[in-house]
Amino acid sequence: MNLIVAVDRNWAIGKDNKLLVSIPDDMKFFRETTSGKVVVMGRKTLESFPNGKPLKNRVNIVLTRDNNYQVKDAIVVHSKEELNAELTKYNNDDIFIIGGESIYRMMLDECDRAFVTYVDYAYDADTYFPNLDDNSKWKLAEESEEQTYYDIEFYFRTYTQAR
Ligand SMILES: NC(=O)c1ccc[n+]([C@@H]2O[C@H](COP(=O)([O-])OP(=O)(O)OC[C@H]3O[C@@H](n4cnc5c(N)ncnc54)[C@H](OP(=O)(O)O)[C@@H]3O)[C@@H](O)[C@H]2O)c1
Repeated sequence: MNLIVAVDRNWAIGKDNKLLVSIPDDMKFFRETTSGKVVVMGRKTLESFPNGKPLKNRVNIVLTRDNNYQVKDAIVVHSKEELNAELTKYNNDDIFIIGGESIYRMMLDECDRAFVTYVDYAYDADTYFPNLDDNSKWKLAEESEEQTYYDIEFYFRTYTQAR
């Protein structure tokens, strides 16, 4: 199982149910990496998308504890157990955890690979991803050259977890 996330220098990921920054090349990387795959998200992350709609060309799985919650073109599950039962239907390498904080924390230990866009700036934030550089189970496997978008510097990193 994979996860994909954009973090800042403090491993912050969001503020007021929005992303901290929108970088076109990172959006492109996200789209290309997850297209045709299975994306798993919390209800708040789904609602942060344009018009609160699921992502096109992907199987969307949304977690909520609300039994009446329904979304067109998405599979809704209500617990980690229900999620794991649903995920048995797919190839493990095709599954991407896409946030937010609560879902990343819940699924981190089950993931083998993390695609982390590391943005070298400290934003004002209210949601965070666990710092993988401080986690002995995770190793930085690959890092791109420095990328830039106007004055923003960022890197595409891949971390792996030995399990
Ligand atoms: N930088 C990035 O790459 C990135 C990626 C994704 C999201 N984000 C940001 O992350 C922030 C949102 O994160 P968040 O932690 O507040 O929200 P979230 O994880 O997207 O969604 C939280 C919701 O998921 C449901 N949920 C969580 N655990 C569950 C469980 N075990 N069983 C059933 N349902 C469960 C609950 O929905 P109900 O309340 O409906 O029960 C909960 O309120 C936003 O700012 C967003 O922009 C950043």
